[in-house]
Amino acid sequence: MEFILSLVEKHQKELRARTEELCLGRLGELDRKAGETETVDREILRCLSQEGLLDWTVPGAFGTNNGTLTAPDLMSLVSFCLVRETLAQHCPSAELIFTMQGLGAGPISFRGTDEQKHRFLPRVASGELVAAFALTEPHTGSDVAALSLKAHRESDHYVLNGRKTLISMAPDADLYTVFAKTDPDAGNKGISAFIVEKGMAGFDPGQRISLLAPHPIGEPVFTNCCVPIANRIGDENDGFKVAMSTLDFFRTTVGACAVGFAQRALDESLNYVKQREAFGKKISEFQAVQLMLAKMATELAASRLLVYRAAIMRDANTKPRLTLESSQAKFYSTEAAQRVIDQAVQIHGGAGVTRGFEVERLYREIRALRIYEGTSEIQQIVIAAQLLRSQSQSSSKG
Ligand code: CAA
Repeated sequence: MEFILSLVEKHQKELRARTEELCLGRLGELDRKAGETETVDREILRCLSQEGLLDWTVPGAFGTNNGTLTAPDLMSLVSFCLVRETLAQHCPSAELIFTMQGLGAGPISFRGTDEQKHRFLPRVASGELVAAFALTEPHTGSDVAALSLKAHRESDHYVLNGRKTLISMAPDADLYTVFAKTDPDAGNKGISAFIVEKGMAGFDPGQRISLLAPHPIGEPVFTNCCVPIANRIGDENDGFKVAMSTLDFFRTTVGACAVGFAQRALDESLNYVKQREAFGKKISEFQAVQLMLAKMATELAASRLLVYRAAIMRDANTKPRLTLESSQAKFYSTEAAQRVIDQAVQIHGGAGVTRGFEVERLYREIRALRIYEGTSEIQQIVIAAQLLRSQSQSSSKG
């Protein structure tokens, strides 16, 4: 981590230190109290807002300025990753809330009108609104172009019909960025993005779903749900690009979360091997254990480099799209974290599969990261498409 911190700005080092301090203090206490939960913990949400951390989930101009540090106007991916990684390492419930405020409001932050930004983002940063990103449907996860929630236009509004599933923060969320088909025959060129608020006629936040690692998640239903035209994000039929450009930012942060989980698993393992004895000595003295630790630490370091490479490039505006780097960061870091955590469980032996041990929780928690925001297989397809595209562009120039 020291190497990464040597590359970032002074206020970002301070932001990370401040986040860690909160995790070891008030936020950590609230997180332990919440435990693994299927509902959004509003006390944690309040604490994140009071301490100014939610300011980093929206462009700075729309923040509350509650914190000791003021977020810059452009949303910084490096800052988001530093906070997300630190929360993932120490405070998993806070990590989810922080992340989803950013992702749920992401389409508004990146592609919303000024009016939409002023209307919604300050309330996301203050924690008044819990945000959700509603893309996945019962029959379309990876294949976004095939989504079937319909939106047809009638005078000054759209009418939405259909359902979403596996939507983090539903049914508790107050604000949903929803992707729907406005032209059913146009594939990915027939999707539009909308802002739907809890309480709108025809919107039912739906049922909760129980996951391997408990998490607030559900399946909202839309029945003749009327959404004003003023709530459309971007142009009609431009929703696929709104979704993909939002995911370009957030996929890197999934990598940061995986790094935080893997760091925690390594730390837990290093503590455990220095205490646990077998065959008359500490298990840290066995080479078999040392080899595992070495591999875990190396994979973790490689993951962190990929995550912050993508984040630093994005903040420096190195390329118009960071699709390749972001998918590489997510793909490698989540797969590596699964291996690191599996080794941590192995090192802990029976304790590793016992409820109450941190590595047992991490083992359940890490699994979804290889699936959501694009599976590892989708990330490889995206990476290959980017490689082939840049190869053909350079051949045509040559
Ligand atoms: N940024 C901007 N534009 C983009 C883009 C990006 N990242 N990616 C693609 N586009 C544009 C392309 O340039 C292209 O535009 P033109 O037609 O004008 O040239 C257009 O979009 C279509 O691009 P592709 O042909 O590459 O699109 P595709 O249909 O082949 O993409 C896919 C397929 C990559 C598999 C894509 O559907 C995908 O990423 N699927 C995974 C979806 C996903 O991540 N689901 C997770 C749900 S969200 C979630 O999990 C959140 C949660 O609950 C926590």
